[in-house]
Amino acid sequence: MQTEANKPAGAPPNDPRWKLLDAAMRRNGRKQNALIESLHAAQEAFGFLDEDSMRYVAANLRVPLSKVYGVATFYHFFTLKPQGEHSCVVCTGTACYIKGAPNLLASLEEHFGVTAGETSKDGKLSVLTARCFGCCGLAPAVVIDGDVSGKLTSAGLVEKIHECMKGEVAVP
Ligand code: FES
Repeated sequence: MQTEANKPAGAPPNDPRWKLLDAAMRRNGRKQNALIESLHAAQEAFGFLDEDSMRYVAANLRVPLSKVYGVATFYHFFTLKPQGEHSCVVCTGTACYIKGAPNLLASLEEHFGVTAGETSKDGKLSVLTARCFGCCGLAPAVVIDGDVSGKLTSAGLVEKIHECMKGEVAVP
């Protein structure tokens, strides 16, 4: 009734971010009154709250999706889907921070003119941060359009985003 069965169909089976969210909900005993904490955990894992993660939380805590939406849209600290055509979530957890996350954020600002929490003026790219994706071995880790990439240099990240924008994707 919970966990695996409620994951979105397209979710990669070993995506560590779902495991992080699951662990957080388990710690709170999957209680309905842990809704805000669970949404925080989802946002920390994914950088924002999209429909898939909200459905997952709703199913696991057995609360109506409408209530989840209500809470997620009421509090300003929750961010629903990024506004940009493409999204880049940079992990700023300890391991990634040490391995260069600040440089990645600086290069995104330099090349695309967009800072964390913002969307570029042309609406092409949203940049978000998350605390830990649960794949610290890949530090510094980023998630571009939903796919995890690791050990990227600033130049490599900029190139990958350009590829995504051109539709050449190939994010592993
Ligand atoms: S600190 Fe970045 S993935 Fe864990």
